[in-house]
Amino acid sequence: MLITYGSSSEALARSVAKGTNIPIVESTRRLFPDGEQYVQVSGDLSGEDVVLIHSFALRPDALLVEYFLLVDAIKSAGCRSLTVVIPYFAYLRQDSRFKMGEPLSAKVIASLIESPKIDRIITIDAHLHRFRSLSDLFRTPSLNLSAMPLLADYYLKNFGNLNTVVVGPDEESEQWVRVVAERLSSPYTIMEKVRLGDREVSVRGSTSVRGKTVVLVDDIISTGMTLVKVIRMLLDEGAKKVDALVTHALMVEDSYQKLKEAGLDNLISTDTVPSPHSKVSVAPLISRIIKSLS
Ligand code: R5P
Repeated sequence: MLITYGSSSEALARSVAKGTNIPIVESTRRLFPDGEQYVQVSGDLSGEDVVLIHSFALRPDALLVEYFLLVDAIKSAGCRSLTVVIPYFAYLRQDSRFKMGEPLSAKVIASLIESPKIDRIITIDAHLHRFRSLSDLFRTPSLNLSAMPLLADYYLKNFGNLNTVVVGPDEESEQWVRVVAERLSSPYTIMEKVRLGDREVSVRGSTSVRGKTVVLVDDIISTGMTLVKVIRMLLDEGAKKVDALVTHALMVEDSYQKLKEAGLDNLISTDTVPSPHSKVSVAPLISRIIKSLS
């Protein structure tokens, strides 16, 4: 077995290689003068089971093109099988035609990903809402791992769980909130969110958080506005402190500043999207699965 990587996941791939003792195969890339991408995967891949680790965060379209180039390079080198690990899978939030004339982006991108024949797709905390499982999106065998137990364990170890309530901002967050609440032995509440625009949401719900520490849980922070609204509401209702556990911290624009201004205390995320908030690595999660394949 060999591991290789896309440009967004090199550090994570190296951690997985180190943790599994599986050799890493280097990949290089550059731009042609006209902006087209060039990639090269070095090493002899013939007859090998190859694992490609490649996240789709922040510049999803360029990373998608890089993915197709890498997959072709790996397959044409004669590998025996190809497993793709996509720690952050973009485009899944457009999982319905909300307005006339819109594409079903989640399905379009999923179909594209498996258009070159690959053997297995592994992702982490995929935004599954209207599509309930990855098998509704892919024909290729697929696995959706969750970083929530790792995030909850990190929280327990570093902050404890005294007088804690776990809160999710919307219906789809319940799948992640439930896991964290169980791990922290805390009650949980789910709010109701209505998205009014890319940077505008309204949130309502009732919670009894007076004097408590609230742990907010969600899969993604993009503009931060979802959590900003919830944090303001919880602090107005008397919460003592608000922390957040999030798998994919995209943190676009000045989202972190907005969250801090709203009153967020600690933000803990994973390295599916590397950032200063990536306190928890998903490398052990990926390593365990990859080892079970070898
Ligand atoms: C969508 O429902 C997701 O679970 C997140 O709540 C959402 O993507 C967060 O986006 P933003 O940070 O822009 O409010």
